[in-house]
Amino acid sequence: MKFLITGANGQLGSEWVSRLTDLRSDFISYSSDRLDITDRTQVQELITAEKPDIVINCAAYTNVDRAETETEKAFLVNEHGVRNLINACKENGSKLVHFSTDYVFAGDVTDRVRFPEGYPESANSDTINAYGSSKRAGELILEEAGRDADWLLIRVSWLSGRYGSNFVKTMLRMSQDKKEISVVMDQTGSPTFTFDLVDKTLALLEKGCSGTFHITSKGEISWAQFAEEIFKISGSETKVVPIPSEQYVTTAKRPSFSLLSTDKIQKNGLEPIHWKAGLEQLLKQLKAFRVE
Ligand SMILES: NC(=O)c1ccc[n+]([C@@H]2O[C@H](COP(=O)([O-])OP(=O)(O)OC[C@H]3O[C@@H](n4cnc5c(N)ncnc54)[C@H](OP(=O)(O)O)[C@@H]3O)[C@@H](O)[C@H]2O)c1
Repeated sequence: MKFLITGANGQLGSEWVSRLTDLRSDFISYSSDRLDITDRTQVQELITAEKPDIVINCAAYTNVDRAETETEKAFLVNEHGVRNLINACKENGSKLVHFSTDYVFAGDVTDRVRFPEGYPESANSDTINAYGSSKRAGELILEEAGRDADWLLIRVSWLSGRYGSNFVKTMLRMSQDKKEISVVMDQTGSPTFTFDLVDKTLALLEKGCSGTFHITSKGEISWAQFAEEIFKISGSETKVVPIPSEQYVTTAKRPSFSLLSTDKIQKNGLEPIHWKAGLEQLLKQLKAFRVE
């Protein structure tokens, strides 16, 4: 089984490179400077030359706030990039694994009543910011390709891993010189840990799964609760001051309710990790690897 990884220097791409190296898998990886997924010819030529069995697309435009003003760029990568990849995969018999986000849903608090266990894969998309819309546009490319192509679309939330930047690493860094940190308490969801995401994606691939799946952890928490647990486990004395979203204004609107249901992966034999267990494991990794 030969893998090709795009966006290999990002948070998730780096985790894939590390894991496939450990597994001694046959893979090639391309960072953004070597493969630009918005370049149709480059994508076509590379996939035709390499003929990977599986393309793992970790390339994405991910700056949620900047996407409000760089909307065209966000769509170029998150929609047209995906189109280039699925077309090239289709022509070469490769399977495309693509990642999307909880931000494709409205995230309205009232949705918690409709979906107490989290949004199912089948819930209607309704985006509230440009990044979410660009990611949904990428999903639609796959849905429109339908069964003419082989794809696995995995939605994740609050992505947290040892590489790149994320909330966990930001909290740890800030706690080094702050006694108190204000964190929003009225936006809830669950983190997806990159090590767990790679494990579960490999398991879905082994089972021959295609279509859309949600991969996240068990348990619904707020960002403030997440920060409190980060400081508790890491032994930091920094205190969390829970604040409402109105006191933390961002360029792009954020969803209040961001939980993804894990029911479908469970029905496919995969047990979601509890968010506290996932966090403990990530903090151990960060300590062991001393990743900045
Ligand atoms: N981070 C989260 O909390 C979160 C939550 C939900 C879903 N997701 C999704 O999870 C996936 C992985 O996210 P991540 O956190 O690993 O993102 P990331 O750290 O920002 O990595 C994205 C990578 O894509 C590369 N890239 C950007 N434009 C490209 C292009 N035109 N061609 C090739 N590569 C390009 C970037 O390279 P440069 O740095 O050189 O631009 C970067 O290395 C994405 O699909 C994202 O939408 C993330």
